[in-house]
Amino acid sequence: NPKIVKTRAELKAAIAQANPGSLGFVPTMGALHAGHSSLFKAARDENELVVISIFVNELQFNDANDYARYPRQLEQDAQLAGEAGVDIIFAPEAHEIYHAGLPLIQLHSGSMGEVYEGASRPGHFDGMLAVVSKLLHLADPRQGEYRAYFGQKDAQQVVLIRRMVADLDYPVQLRLVPIVRSAKGLALSSRNALLSDQEKEAALVLHRAIGLVADRAAHNEPLNIEDAIGLFQMEPLVQLDYFVVVDPNTLQELAFNCQDTPFTGEGLILVAATVGQVRLIDNQPISA
Ligand code: PAJ
Repeated sequence: NPKIVKTRAELKAAIAQANPGSLGFVPTMGALHAGHSSLFKAARDENELVVISIFVNELQFNDANDYARYPRQLEQDAQLAGEAGVDIIFAPEAHEIYHAGLPLIQLHSGSMGEVYEGASRPGHFDGMLAVVSKLLHLADPRQGEYRAYFGQKDAQQVVLIRRMVADLDYPVQLRLVPIVRSAKGLALSSRNALLSDQEKEAALVLHRAIGLVADRAAHNEPLNIEDAIGLFQMEPLVQLDYFVVVDPNTLQELAFNCQDTPFTGEGLILVAATVGQVRLIDNQPISA
């Protein structure tokens, strides 16, 4: 079973004791599922020591209700992490991370942090970068290989972390892991536990809409994303926030989205919608 450590001193000691030639680190907020497991397994395959963190970071929640409701289940999480081969779980209390209060000096995610998820959740990405930055430092083995694993599920998050690591020279290699879905296609998310069966069924429209546009991209056809947007109008339980095709590196909306122009090049379909009380996101990279 994984060793659970609560303080930065214990984490440092546990990593020093293992003295690994390579360390794979996976930050999470817990309520672990098969999506997280695939990150743990990717880390397990490539590293001598696998460290994960479980920390519900208040700083990245713009909605106090969402923070309060976020599922917390350390015992169950430790079980799943153990099955995926995790060695160490860092599960700090808030005061351990924000020991001197909330950071005075903050990272600013910039223009790419203000669109899409950033527009709907003001401050979210700055708060996310703050904790990812701290966790990347706390788990740093200081010698040997150091890799950190993130899921494509949170596409905008990955773009911003990549930029932070590149722009500020963090000494860590990033690894990206594909989205894990339910048999019916719903992207796995800790928040899915808050959906009723009926809402889960309705939520499949995100994947259907993405599939429609991705198929057209694969065939070099015009994307006509208004057809995808139309699918949402037939789902009364689902409120669409945005459905866009963007440049995967800059997040700029691509010009031929709504025109009668065949798709070529690289794109990223991004979607967000609210189902019941729950905000869901999904995405798919496309190329043709
Ligand atoms: P959390 O939502 O717990 O996700 C932790 C990691 O698991 C993220 O990199 C996320 O993209 C990945 N993940 C979640 N669901 C996935 C799925 N269905 N398929 C593949 N990967 C999936 O993302 C966060 O936590 C936080 O913002 C964090 C980075 C930990 C900072 O607080």
